[in-house]
Amino acid sequence: MLKLAGVNSSSIVYDLGCGNGSIVAAAARDYGAKKVVGIEQNQKLCAIARAKTRHLNNALIINANYDTVDLSEANIVTIYQSSSENVRLKRKFLKELLQGSTIVSHEFGIPGWRPTLFHTVKEDRHSYRIIVYVIGLHTPS
Ligand SMILES: C[S@@+](CC[C@H](N)C(=O)[O-])C[C@H]1O[C@@H](n2cnc3c(N)ncnc32)[C@H](O)[C@@H]1O
Repeated sequence: MLKLAGVNSSSIVYDLGCGNGSIVAAAARDYGAKKVVGIEQNQKLCAIARAKTRHLNNALIINANYDTVDLSEANIVTIYQSSSENVRLKRKFLKELLQGSTIVSHEFGIPGWRPTLFHTVKEDRHSYRIIVYVIGLHTPS
């Protein structure tokens, strides 16, 4: 997911609904992102994510509803939400993200937007989809 999103040392990554913080930790530690912010509304998951990223200076976990968090400094946003939630998030993305920012979605697409990349990952008996969008490239309101 992070590889397909092109995460590197100049990336500012926001993970909306970061769960246990696995993506945040990987982006900060393995991909050396400049800054990674995970936002999670569930307090228990947030505590796990904080423990997992405590040693990473470039990672921050926020316990909040991501609707209340300004995304404007992000150049990469990661999501793993339902298609209907992704529809709702479109307005926020278009309002807060700069043109050229990347959104990478695990499994569920953003209806009405055309991805720049669509990849199926096969792992043992499971497969899942990674779908990449770039703000300003076929991302109408
Ligand atoms: C499918 S899980 C994905 C977890 C993690 N990103 C991953 O890939 O393993 C979705 C997460 O989003 C969180 N979530 C859903 N709506 C949210 C909101 N409005 N604000 C913050 N977190 C939210 C849920 O609590 C849940 O942990």
